[in-house]
Amino acid sequence: MAEIDKPQREVDLPGDWAYASAPESRDIVHLRDRYGYYVGGEWLEPAETYETIAPRDEEPLAAVGQATAEDVDRAVAAARTAYADGWSSLPGSERAKFLFRIARILQERSREFAVLESLNGGKPIKESRDVDLPLAAAHFFYYAGWADKLEFAFPNRRPRPVGVAGQIIPWNFPLLMLAWKVAPALACGNTVVLKPAETTPLTALLFCDVLRQAELPDGVVNIVTGDGRTGAALVESDDVDKIAFTGSTEVGKEIQRRLAGTGKRLTLELGGKAANIVFDDAALDQAVEGIVNGIYFNQGHVCCAGSRLFVQESIYEPLVAKLERRLTTLRVGDPLDKNTDVGAINSAAQLERIQELVASGVEEGAEIYQPPCVLPEKGYWFVPTVFTNVAQSYRIAQEEIFGPVLSVLTFRTPEEAVEKANNTPYGLSAGVWTEKGSRILWMAQRLRAGVVWANTFNRFDPSSPFGGYKESGFGREGGRHGLEPYLDFEESESFGG
Ligand code: NAI
Ligand code: MG
Repeated sequence: MAEIDKPQREVDLPGDWAYASAPESRDIVHLRDRYGYYVGGEWLEPAETYETIAPRDEEPLAAVGQATAEDVDRAVAAARTAYADGWSSLPGSERAKFLFRIARILQERSREFAVLESLNGGKPIKESRDVDLPLAAAHFFYYAGWADKLEFAFPNRRPRPVGVAGQIIPWNFPLLMLAWKVAPALACGNTVVLKPAETTPLTALLFCDVLRQAELPDGVVNIVTGDGRTGAALVESDDVDKIAFTGSTEVGKEIQRRLAGTGKRLTLELGGKAANIVFDDAALDQAVEGIVNGIYFNQGHVCCAGSRLFVQESIYEPLVAKLERRLTTLRVGDPLDKNTDVGAINSAAQLERIQELVASGVEEGAEIYQPPCVLPEKGYWFVPTVFTNVAQSYRIAQEEIFGPVLSVLTFRTPEEAVEKANNTPYGLSAGVWTEKGSRILWMAQRLRAGVVWANTFNRFDPSSPFGGYKESGFGREGGRHGLEPYLDFEESESFGG
């Protein structure tokens, strides 16, 4: 066989495989200059406003209202009217139709919402596009399914709606937290006044347009914006029957004090300092991906973030080496770039809090590692950080940093891992990495945490209940459990009794 002449051409291989920028267009988002409050299906003009900005470059995006106690009371009154005028007595199958519509509209408009979420909050577009939006829609689909099945969810207990729910949410998952709160409340026949966080109000305000499209009756969902003063006014508003709060433990405690003895119902989803525990038989490369997802997802602005890494001593060195190498490949930068892994810190205040805690870690004697990283000049940024040589008593091992900062500790035995993992005032989540199924179950029974992930981390599903132990709060969101805080029960007489 004749030899084929192969053309010997020199191929120009690039020496540098850096990613080219891949910006998502923001043209799909149309912002107004100024937003009021959405009350009784209408926009109320605010007396006072503040500027909401893009944390990636501090660009002003819109003027947003700072609602007063009177504004809040008007919203609560609108919710009460809508409750009494039909929403609470609508058949579950009718309420479900509205929830299904909202879910479908969110899917249809998901790109618009994802871009706005990244613009206003700083999270990478690939996260808002692939996590926040699909999950927000999934929550509405899921609770739409329960709306006409409450009698079956709680047999013999005659579930009834609670009334008007006041809902206060944080800035780390603005639209998703809205969905976690609004979907179960409406499914159970309640009406709502929701206050988004002061730094991230825009997707909640855009959501009002989804409500209009879905033709939800006026006043069933009302949105008021403003800072903690507006939140406090909602907590104190006389005609609110229930408060649902997600945010800092400090504010959660304050709300609990204020509501004590009022008869208003309360659920709190607060901070965390989760342990992510890696045993020596775990698949190390997968564990490294799970550790990275556990703490650098959403810049570490995650209440259930795996912020304390516990590594079994025998694999400490190879694991930390792999982790530090992996950190050099994280792309930090523009949230609207589709290649970005770690976006902007949500606010100047949060950046300051992270910087202060990181400085305390260095001061107390931990060893800091930060990969080489060029940060944009404008905006709020923090380099993904790993601390080794951390003692359990250090502030970085005790306090919620709520930023891309990991503290690495070690253990020898499963008993020691459990003891150290539970040595925290919090108890929201935990992770276990091991090949042994029996060890996963053994650990899960002993870890004082509302969610325990096995060989994965930061996975969410609307059918799975989520919530805390100890200072991480009480009450569950998600799943059938997530209906309960929005229902009153008239226990029926037992059969033959
Ligand atoms: P925050 O708890 O002050 O804010 C959360 C929400 O509560 C916002 O909507 C805020 O306007 C509202 N709020 C504030 N004061 C209130 C009051 N007295 N009554 C009623 N509502 C009130 O949290 P912040 O100041 O934004 O963050 C501080 C720290 O809290 C973070 O560094 C982080 O450690 C933690 N945090 C935890 C969250 C979680 O999901 N577990 C979410 C946000 C913050
Ligand atoms: Mg605060």
